[in-house]
Amino acid sequence: MRSFLLLPVFLSLWISAKASLAAGTDTLKTKTYMIPDKANFDTTLNGKAVHLFTLENKKHMQVAITNYGGRVVSILVSGKDGKPVDVVLGYDKLATYRKKGEPYFGALIGRYGNRIAKGKFTIDGKGYNLAINNGVNALHGGPAGFHAQVWDARQVNKTTLQLSYRSVDGEEGYPGNLDVKVTYTLTDDNALRIDYQATTDKTTVVNLTNHTYFNLNGEGNGNILGHTLMLNADKFAPVDNTLIPTGQLAGVSGTPFDFRKSFRIGARIKGDDEQLKNGKGYDHNFILRKTGKKPELAAVAEGDKTGITMNVYTTEPGVQFYSGNFLNGRAYNGKGGVNYPIRSGFCLETQHFPDSPNKPQFPSTELKPGGTYKSTTIYQFSAK
Ligand code: BGC
Repeated sequence: MRSFLLLPVFLSLWISAKASLAAGTDTLKTKTYMIPDKANFDTTLNGKAVHLFTLENKKHMQVAITNYGGRVVSILVSGKDGKPVDVVLGYDKLATYRKKGEPYFGALIGRYGNRIAKGKFTIDGKGYNLAINNGVNALHGGPAGFHAQVWDARQVNKTTLQLSYRSVDGEEGYPGNLDVKVTYTLTDDNALRIDYQATTDKTTVVNLTNHTYFNLNGEGNGNILGHTLMLNADKFAPVDNTLIPTGQLAGVSGTPFDFRKSFRIGARIKGDDEQLKNGKGYDHNFILRKTGKKPELAAVAEGDKTGITMNVYTTEPGVQFYSGNFLNGRAYNGKGGVNYPIRSGFCLETQHFPDSPNKPQFPSTELKPGGTYKSTTIYQFSAK
């Protein structure tokens, strides 16, 4: 009789515990996202001014970019309820972007995105040696690559930021003075467009990309394993256990690399597959079906909790899908003090294939004097 009387008490305790748990999740989801304080980015490095710039379109979408490494710090997209959601991982202050081991959050990557085997390549019979900064290989342009340089910045108007950088002959081991221009444009159809351009005075290799980590459920809001992803690729580039492509291209059909139809990122990531083991998850270059002078659809990703969708278009022949396998939550805390554990963000780095300078069968990454490197990538957002 007594225990029967206690039942309503237990029930109400259980209901209120459920309610507060739900409130906990809701608090996370309805977290107020804001662009970090600009004052935390104002400084002078090597005689060059650093700032945080904000782009805003007519739909009130906002993008914050610093000219330190040309890094995308925040992208505020309207969620279903119209409230802004910050869909990129990043830091509140410049000082953290400069710390050792920082995982290239939001960065422009150059002179060569991804790996060059053993940091060696030859051009016209002459050998070049790059700094080795990733096991036995060279990664992302070297320790002082474009991600760690101060770019000259000119905010043209509310929606356009132009960045330029001269990478001098011999910098990080690469030949030729390379003049690089990158224009970030926020359009009224909620797209962040990145136009890259470069010229050189000696034959060199160039492979530029952007290393933004996305979480379409909102940064700091769990991992990305529930996101769905479509990749417009019939083939990918298998890698060895140092993440250098073997040189062969493999069909995605019947493998965990088949994203031709939207698939949950986490559905197959832990499968017994040699390539997933080599990459510690997805860390592979996908060969895009369509490449041209105008940007073609490369990928579509959707956050399962927000319904925020991102379409990626590019002129590049490949996209590196990196599922944030090396994030470990032990590095520096992100915006608002949040911790970014493993797979709390993913990258879609549009690019030529890794190690192309040593793989003559891959599309060439050589740039000669008189030629112009041009590349465009568009990240477009919408909410269902
Ligand atoms: C690479 C990963 C690497 C990461 C660095 C990605 O582009 O493919 O292997 O660990 O960048 O943050």
